[in-house]
Amino acid sequence: MSFKEQSKVELHLHIEGGAPPDFIRTLAKEKSVDLSGIFTEDGGYAYRDFWHFLEVYEAATSVLTGPEEFRRLTKAVLEACAEKGVVYAETFLSPDFCGGRDVAAWKDYLAAIQDAATEAERDHGITLRGIATCIRHFGPEFARETALCAQETAGGFLTGFGMGGDEKSGSQGDFAYAYDMAREAGLRLTTHAGEWNGPDEIRAALDDLKVERIGHGVRAIEDLALVERLVEDGVTLEVCPGSNVFLGVYPDLSAHPIAKLRERGVNVTVSTDDPPFFRTDMVKEYQDLSRQFGWTPEDFRELNLVAIDAAFCDDATRNRIR
Ligand code: ADE
Ligand code: ZN
Repeated sequence: MSFKEQSKVELHLHIEGGAPPDFIRTLAKEKSVDLSGIFTEDGGYAYRDFWHFLEVYEAATSVLTGPEEFRRLTKAVLEACAEKGVVYAETFLSPDFCGGRDVAAWKDYLAAIQDAATEAERDHGITLRGIATCIRHFGPEFARETALCAQETAGGFLTGFGMGGDEKSGSQGDFAYAYDMAREAGLRLTTHAGEWNGPDEIRAALDDLKVERIGHGVRAIEDLALVERLVEDGVTLEVCPGSNVFLGVYPDLSAHPIAKLRERGVNVTVSTDDPPFFRTDMVKEYQDLSRQFGWTPEDFRELNLVAIDAAFCDDATRNRIR
């Protein structure tokens, strides 16, 4: 079986980060917004480093101004995923970008996204669940408003709460109140940690936010006691190898710790993060990992079973995709 045909589960995908450059360029033109500075000559996204990436990301997102645009975006993202064999995906959705954290507006955005997801399930056999996501560098006050949006829409399609953004800004603990709100609403919890900061950041995520999954988490490898804790507590890492190499967390895939973490018994999974920004997709991730670490379709089958077990979905959905 080729990697393309293999059924895949993807747990870490930002919806705005899945926007093809042409999609954003067309919207910018329609709205007479000059975004020429964020594109390369060959049509990709242009940025210097992670912090500039966040700026370009927010500039691209600025032309997604209503539920209809998110409906079209979700359709485009899910078609691209399904084409690569993804049968189940979870996506980060930010109330910051979907109505400015206004609960009524967020409900409209979410309904449009969910509509597109229902259509994609019917037409392409891909299931989507949403993770409401606060943005770390927007601060704890906005995160509380995000958590309120999440509380008001928890259940069904919206199954998780997370945090992305600049890991160098503030601390995980600053967001404990927002995470408590999300937990009380029955949402499952994840946060970006250990992408740009070291092991202490991952410990803070576990201790202060009590998350069950970590976005990235790869720098846990720098502290073997922490690696043991991840194994013992059954914490799942949403690893995005192509993203880490493209952004320079590691110089190349040979230096990436995903294989070492897996050998030590950590629950690792594979995702793309923001595929067009990092010029990747799930088939490319599998091919690159296979080339680097000798992983076979059977290895990826195991990784997918780990992802299914850690998915923020109900057991009926879990059994269907297993
Ligand atoms: N938002 C989108 N992609 C991200 C990443 N890799 N890290 C943190 N925040 C993000
Ligand atoms: Zn991410």
